[in-house]
Amino acid sequence: MAESPAVPRVASPKERAAATRSLGRLDWSTWPRYEAAAVGFRNYWYPVTWSHRVTESPIQVTLLGETIMLLREQGRVRALHDRCPHRGVPLSHRMASQEFPGTWTCCYHGWTFDLESGTLVAAITDGPDSPICGKVAVKTYPAEERIGLVWIYIGDDDPPPVESAIPAELVRPDAVVVGRRTIRTGNWRFGAENGIDEGHAKFLHRNSLWTLKRQMPTWVRHHMEPTEGGWITRVADQVEFDTEFPGLGPWPPKRRFWRSRGRGGARVSIRMPNALRVEYATWTHFEWWIPIDADTHIYLQLATQAGRGIRAARFRLYYWTWIRWVFHGMFNEEDALMVDVMDAPPERLYRPDIAITEWRKLCESDARARPQVVPDDRPAWLRLQESAAGRGGGASAEDEAPSAPAEQPVAVVASYRVPTDAEAAVRDDTRLRRRSSLPITHRLRMLIKR
Ligand code: FES
Ligand code: FE2
Repeated sequence: MAESPAVPRVASPKERAAATRSLGRLDWSTWPRYEAAAVGFRNYWYPVTWSHRVTESPIQVTLLGETIMLLREQGRVRALHDRCPHRGVPLSHRMASQEFPGTWTCCYHGWTFDLESGTLVAAITDGPDSPICGKVAVKTYPAEERIGLVWIYIGDDDPPPVESAIPAELVRPDAVVVGRRTIRTGNWRFGAENGIDEGHAKFLHRNSLWTLKRQMPTWVRHHMEPTEGGWITRVADQVEFDTEFPGLGPWPPKRRFWRSRGRGGARVSIRMPNALRVEYATWTHFEWWIPIDADTHIYLQLATQAGRGIRAARFRLYYWTWIRWVFHGMFNEEDALMVDVMDAPPERLYRPDIAITEWRKLCESDARARPQVVPDDRPAWLRLQESAAGRGGGASAEDEAPSAPAEQPVAVVASYRVPTDAEAAVRDDTRLRRRSSLPITHRLRMLIKR
């Protein structure tokens, strides 16, 4: 009798559940909107750069995967999709120019766009009666300036007032606001999760200069609570310092007489779409992780205190001589090292990670719009080929023939896709190389510890 082919045994639901428990969480499908938000959430204002950096000479920034030209014109900041719809030349190219007030002209064939609406108002090299005028537009973005920063709205609905995005402490009439902006590698969500993460500060930063005089707890039990202004805040329920680990010994191993308990404690909160607040006794720290793409973000840190006159001057001095280098620099650079190399999911969460899961839940329930999708930066011929074959998610291009019937101006919208495995592998490879570049402060610290 012929043997019947072996049928692979299928694990029972109970076995699968047990396996999943030991492996941890394999994906973030519990929070599908958060999982899909690799390049951020739409329908929010984002602080993108310092006001003084935007001048009459355009600059290019990338925000949630969208490339944007910023320009100051008649004192106002204008933001346009940085791609001429004619042949794809960046509108921020250093040869581009302003030929007429209120407009911007591409350097290649002289297509001229109205800065307010983005509509093509002249194609200089096709004469004043060019039939394409009014039929093409470049996308414009709402832009505002507040507290010394340029804020851009990325979204589909009408923008709410920009103040909705700015924490109340920063817009007080007597607020002193100073800060630092850097570009960091790593997905923005790792930055956010590191910001609200309860477990890491007392271990990762235990030898930091910023915490030199403070004995941090060994472990803390906490929960998250909603607080005013859309924040969720970490609240400690139990705080323990010198602890005996059975069979292992005490931790920390040595008590440092110069460190005191209770010094420098802070209240930490997070809110949509990407802001962290750390309240110290006399001043407050804010940070944002503003997605550039899925692997890079702008890390913006602000420090603020209410005060005028001498008090304001004293805070500025304190910031420029201490906070900026020791906290915004060294201390938070230790986080950057982790954010750069983190790779999750899979992940096996533990008790203190409740701060992270509550943040993910907040994104899931409160995000105003669908997550941004990854911009499709493949060449158009490849996108067209794939969409013709019914494979890709690419949008097809439309030729704008001179004889085409007049249409309402249409904003240029990029098409999007998910990165291929090969691209992900290249990114991973880049990450591995980055691991070798530790900042000098960390090398010194490791040398001293040896
Ligand atoms: Fe811009 Fe031709 S590419 S005008
Ligand atoms: Fe940290």
